[in-house]
Amino acid sequence: MIGKLESRRILITGAASGMGREIARLFSREGADLALLDRDEAGVKAIADELSAKAFGCDVADRPAVGRIVAAAGEALAGLDGVVNAAGILDITPFDDLDPDSWDRMIAVNLTGPFNVVKAALPFLRQAERATIVTIASVSALMPMPGTSGYSASKAGVAMFTKCLGMDLGPNIRANSICPGVIRTEMTRFLWENPEHTARATERVSLKRLGETDDVSRAALFFSTEDSGFTTGTELPVDGGFSWR
Ligand SMILES: NC(=O)c1ccc[n+]([C@@H]2O[C@H](COP(=O)([O-])OP(=O)(O)OC[C@H]3O[C@@H](n4cnc5c(N)ncnc54)[C@H](O)[C@@H]3O)[C@@H](O)[C@H]2O)c1
Repeated sequence: MIGKLESRRILITGAASGMGREIARLFSREGADLALLDRDEAGVKAIADELSAKAFGCDVADRPAVGRIVAAAGEALAGLDGVVNAAGILDITPFDDLDPDSWDRMIAVNLTGPFNVVKAALPFLRQAERATIVTIASVSALMPMPGTSGYSASKAGVAMFTKCLGMDLGPNIRANSICPGVIRTEMTRFLWENPEHTARATERVSLKRLGETDDVSRAALFFSTEDSGFTTGTELPVDGGFSWR
């Protein structure tokens, strides 16, 4: 059977763990050629070896390094047809106690990181016949939650950034965001390892469970194929019914 991403060359950030890693596995099964980027060099090499992909160790907040590494990734794959921005960090701290350095870092990684990556990938994406950009934002982009002023600001920013890309980069490049609810990854281990926290987190979710990484990878696949060929500049909640609006 021919995969949905056969002959597509895709760069995935945050690929050493969680959603980025699951997206890499699904995209590989669907036939994509992958360049995987993460600041965790050993982790990204491990998944790249598993999938016969190219591994790149890089901090998405380091603009000069991103410029060099994304260019190398584009050269290694002889072009890029798509980017998935999954690298991200979370600090839940009430505003009174939020360290300004933590604010700066969340904005640098979660918002400026995707800017750096897309800017560096653009010359390659422009060469592609039909290119796609997928950003993993968050339900925090859509609604306030206690202790998330920095994280939510970064995610609302990156969702609007991605929407604007949809407007600026059409018609040959589409850009969409995914807004996951609580997904069981390393980032949320503190929550799902605690039954009381899990019960509280699922209470408001209509589908009465936490999300899994494959809930998100399937949405990323949709946005990276012609199945979503008439969709750009959107934010898709993948949250089991949590962020109603
Ligand atoms: N887990 C959730 O419930 C949830 C919900 C909504 C949105 N998100 C977002 O989904 C994305 C993936 O998160 P996850 O849950 O898979 O987390 P994760 O911690 O399992 O994976 C995040 C990956 O990003 C990498 N990374 C972090 N900072 C980086 C940087 N500066 N440069 C390069 N790589 C970096 C990490 O090394 C890690 O491999 C993030 O953007 C996160 O904010 C997560």
